[in-house]
Amino acid sequence: MATLTDEISRRRTFAIISHPDAGKTTLTEKLLLYGGAIHIAGAVKSNKIKKTATSDWMEIEKQRGISVATSVMGFNYGDYKINILDTPGHQDFAEDTYRTLTAVDSVIIVVDVAKGVEQQTRRLMEVCRMRNTPVIIFVNKLDREGRDPFEILDELEAELKISVRPLSWPINIGAKFKGVYNIYEHSLDLFTPDKQKVSERVEISDVNDPAIDEAVGEADAAKLREDLELIEGVYPEFNVEEYREGLVAPVFFGSALNTFGVKELLDCFVKIAPSPKPTQAEERQVKPEEEAFSGFVFKIHANMDPNHRSCIAFVKICSGKFERNAPYKHIRSGKTLRFAAPTAFMAQKKSIVDEAFPGDIVGIPDTGTFKIGDTLTAGEDLHFKGLPSFSPELFKYIENEDPMKSKQLEKGIQQLMDEGVAQLFVNQFNGRKIIGTVGQLQFEVIQYRLLHEYGAQCRWEPISLHKACWIESDNPEALAAFKKRKHQFMATDREGRDVFLADSGYVLTMARQDFPEINFHFTSEF
Ligand code: G4P
Repeated sequence: MATLTDEISRRRTFAIISHPDAGKTTLTEKLLLYGGAIHIAGAVKSNKIKKTATSDWMEIEKQRGISVATSVMGFNYGDYKINILDTPGHQDFAEDTYRTLTAVDSVIIVVDVAKGVEQQTRRLMEVCRMRNTPVIIFVNKLDREGRDPFEILDELEAELKISVRPLSWPINIGAKFKGVYNIYEHSLDLFTPDKQKVSERVEISDVNDPAIDEAVGEADAAKLREDLELIEGVYPEFNVEEYREGLVAPVFFGSALNTFGVKELLDCFVKIAPSPKPTQAEERQVKPEEEAFSGFVFKIHANMDPNHRSCIAFVKICSGKFERNAPYKHIRSGKTLRFAAPTAFMAQKKSIVDEAFPGDIVGIPDTGTFKIGDTLTAGEDLHFKGLPSFSPELFKYIENEDPMKSKQLEKGIQQLMDEGVAQLFVNQFNGRKIIGTVGQLQFEVIQYRLLHEYGAQCRWEPISLHKACWIESDNPEALAAFKKRKHQFMATDREGRDVFLADSGYVLTMARQDFPEINFHFTSEF
């Protein structure tokens, strides 16, 4: 019988993140192929909401359905149990991605060799850095013309603000791409541009083996040796502890589409990536090996069927063993709940599970009980931290269009905010409700869902806002003075925290200058 510790140490829970089109979906699919979770390429649908589909609601609903199915992909690989948490590709749903990152123990970042570090990768990396999440970088599309690998490494280091350490190295790139030398295992894989055929491995003793010259030609072999010497000179030896502390990111090169360099990535990943780590609760740190179950809700997904307003709450297990039908305490309400039909996703199939372990995600059917960030335990009062809200980018007043349906509107707004679709602020001066989002698409989603799921109609009215920032101070008098002076621009968030609505960057700068005792925060957790 495997013990709890065995179950924990074999688990690897991670997310793949990238700027759209770098190859996240393709890489995910290839990992699933290796795990035997799928058998043919093309089985994983991209959950990208293509730009052209923004006004096509059925399309968005369909896409949402796909993303439920691919929310968590669990499979066994050798002795390991791997859980890949999917993140939405569309940047308007970046907040979803941030929250998913709170439920993973590590991350693989995919970068396009021609494009290098792009905007969304940079932002997601900031979230990883905040949490010291270990990252591995996969430089993709080596079969296409792209940039010099050394240049890419410099860019990764500068833009992602993390030390890098190549663990594999390409021999040429684009049309002349011949393969990858695996620095981690001292092996050589030759590239065959064929999606059906996996690469050919050349047995070599070390980098000086003449078999390399035979396989790739003398000139390329010499260049490879030169490059490797330079790498050894410039980059310190790879240290797995530094990687696990989030200080250094190992880098692999390959081509996801050609299933090239993917197995090397996966084999190294399972060896070095961390198993579930302790989770910080407000009260104390919770270790995965603790006997008593605990977990938190990091995502709530609305049902596709508008007639049944049920959702799936995704719970990340932090400690102990989760058991079906066992009594668990829902900390926010204080109620004891039993879950008769928790689901897990294994090998692309959703099925009811009897038990699950730290690192696993279970889906719990929900009819409005859960809110993002809720904690469940075997009885202890714990509140898991680390689900910050970020200051939204776009703001609009939400108004009721149908006075007969104000209750429905209220309820709809509440539940959509519980799901984490957007953020609600109430202006303390005029009592008006303001919805903040990271993208235009969310306003459309909210309006559509309010109508279709709650029968309520809303109207958006413009508000000119630069940022919403959470404020606090050690000096209660300074805080009171600030709130008095800025009373027209003060709001509260759903937890009742003070939020300052700055209508321009200038106003914010001035406020910071004039009120040095006030701290302004751009995330809700500080
Ligand atoms: P994403 O999830 O990060 O948005 O990217 P996705 O995997 O959908 O890949 C984006 C495009 O890049 C896809 O082409 C995909 O086939 C291609 N691609 C992925 N990996 C590689 C690679 O190693 N080499 C090359 N040359 N291309 C790669 P598409 O035309 O946009 O989509 P599709 O019609 O092929 O699905």
